[in-house]
Amino acid sequence: MSDSIGLEQANAQPALGGGHGAAPGEEPSRRDFIHIAAIAATVGGAGALAWPLIDQMNPSADTLALASIEYDVSKVAEGQQAVVKWRGKPVFVRHRTPKEIAAARRDDHADLRDPATDASRVKPGHEATLVLVGVCTHLGCVPNFGGGEYGGWLCPCHGSVYDTSGRIRQGPAPKNLEVPEYAFTGPTKVRIG
Ligand code: FES
Repeated sequence: MSDSIGLEQANAQPALGGGHGAAPGEEPSRRDFIHIAAIAATVGGAGALAWPLIDQMNPSADTLALASIEYDVSKVAEGQQAVVKWRGKPVFVRHRTPKEIAAARRDDHADLRDPATDASRVKPGHEATLVLVGVCTHLGCVPNFGGGEYGGWLCPCHGSVYDTSGRIRQGPAPKNLEVPEYAFTGPTKVRIG
């Protein structure tokens, strides 16, 4: 017998049903057994290699911990904002003044590039707390509060202006500052993510 398993592995074709199988009704030959064994070994080897790769894709405990964060908004005084890091991005937690809220609500029906009411961007009963991903929707700079003519944020890179609801009002940015997924888990506690 001249075949070896090594040779069969080298000759193994990806598609089954090659030309040297047994004819219909015949017992499979020894050569067929060797061929099938070689393919099974190849598939098993690929599975053994794939598992560590798939396992590496599972998020680590550190990553899961960063998937959501808790923050106590009572730490932020009226008229101030905190910047917290979430999933590698800055998140603004702003405690708005009554004047900021009124300005945002007054402009609910202005000619907005990315229309959204102020109420849709905050949680009911927590209108003073505005939570935004602090990344300009133009090219990703971090806007500063207190610039621009709408009393909100001004992006230092190319001049996009956001209002006191984080809505885009002027400049090249196409969208409002993103409101991340978040929820109040207590009177002053929010969970972001
Ligand atoms: S990145 Fe903000 S305006 Fe360009």
